[in-house]
Amino acid sequence: MTDNNSRMSRRSVIKSGAAFAAASGVPSGWAIAQPKPVKVGLMLPYSGTFAKLGENITFAVEMVIAEKGGKFGGREIQVIKLDDESKPDLAPQNADRLIKRDQVDVLIGTVHSGVQMGIHKVVTESGTLTIVPNAGNDVVTRAQCAKNVFRTSFSNWQSAYGMGLALGKKNIKKAAWITWDYAAGADMGAGFKEGLEKAGGQVVQELKLPFPQTNFQPLLAQIPGLNVEAVGAFFAGGGAIQFVKEYAAAGIKAPLCGPGFLTEGTLEAQGAAAEGIETALHYGDGLNNAKNAGFTKAFKEKAGRDADVYAVQGYDAAQLLAVGLEAVAGKIEDEANLYKAMRAAKIDSPRGPISFSPSQNVVHNIYLRKASGGQNKVVSIAAENLADPGTGCKLT
Ligand code: BEZ
Repeated sequence: MTDNNSRMSRRSVIKSGAAFAAASGVPSGWAIAQPKPVKVGLMLPYSGTFAKLGENITFAVEMVIAEKGGKFGGREIQVIKLDDESKPDLAPQNADRLIKRDQVDVLIGTVHSGVQMGIHKVVTESGTLTIVPNAGNDVVTRAQCAKNVFRTSFSNWQSAYGMGLALGKKNIKKAAWITWDYAAGADMGAGFKEGLEKAGGQVVQELKLPFPQTNFQPLLAQIPGLNVEAVGAFFAGGGAIQFVKEYAAAGIKAPLCGPGFLTEGTLEAQGAAAEGIETALHYGDGLNNAKNAGFTKAFKEKAGRDADVYAVQGYDAAQLLAVGLEAVAGKIEDEANLYKAMRAAKIDSPRGPISFSPSQNVVHNIYLRKASGGQNKVVSIAAENLADPGTGCKLT
């Protein structure tokens, strides 16, 4: 309640300024021409195993703001950053801080699915417009979908399903799944299994360790005894670097594969250990479109390193916000028209064209990629224009 009240009171200030101007005969231009900036809270990991992911999302959000001269729909954009440390326990208080103390109008966050659940609880109560630039927990755009929550990244199901499907089409009958034991690992495991089963294969064993632990050896030691033809894995960031190196060093025969986070933004550090790994993701090297060419060049200039999927997702989060604010000429309080425009958005993304499903999750191609010479080279399309099923979502 307090959140809504304080949000409303800031809106009222803007509105009452215009009303006063009209009633007093003072030229109304002052109140209308100088509305307050739209405050955008970036709640992302800037420390820990996902730090680089949070940084790349941030660089890309800042790129869109700069490209548009600092304004969306005529309203200045002010960014406030908060390091969520990928700690689910701290998520509700961190989201609350941005909304109540910093009075953000929009929250862009986050990376970790567990932290997203904390944000989700807070923003579904406060009604704060939220754009998810990475965390894929399926439930956010399924049974717990909300009209003020949009996702420009992926659902965990999407890329894992694409990988399972591609593996099954290669006639793989028996695979294992290895991951961190939290929402993202579980969702992706389910998607991988569904895709593989659809194409005639099965997952015979799931191996897990707590997030963000990297004591992989006891799990790796079990794999040769499983007699599987492939191993699917979800790890990302610093954890993925270490896992891929240790998998290669263990000399396991079954080829490693997985949702593309396994080799995304990590190939330089993984070196020869990553060579030949096949992954499925909604972005990859060699995507030949004009938007991607300009984006990768500009990102390298800004960040001093290559763009990756996390940068793309951040870029599209800001692009989506811009579409919404441009449709309502910056009047963020016009929620009905803002959300209508965001739901209908067709965005030219560096990953290719994207749109949004009825549960407000991104619809995009899933590409099959192969790591080669430091690049995740796109080999084919594993699933075209794939929408999450959005099971159980009822938007009121
Ligand atoms: C997640 O927690 O949803 C996630 C984190 C990193 C990469 C992909 C998904």
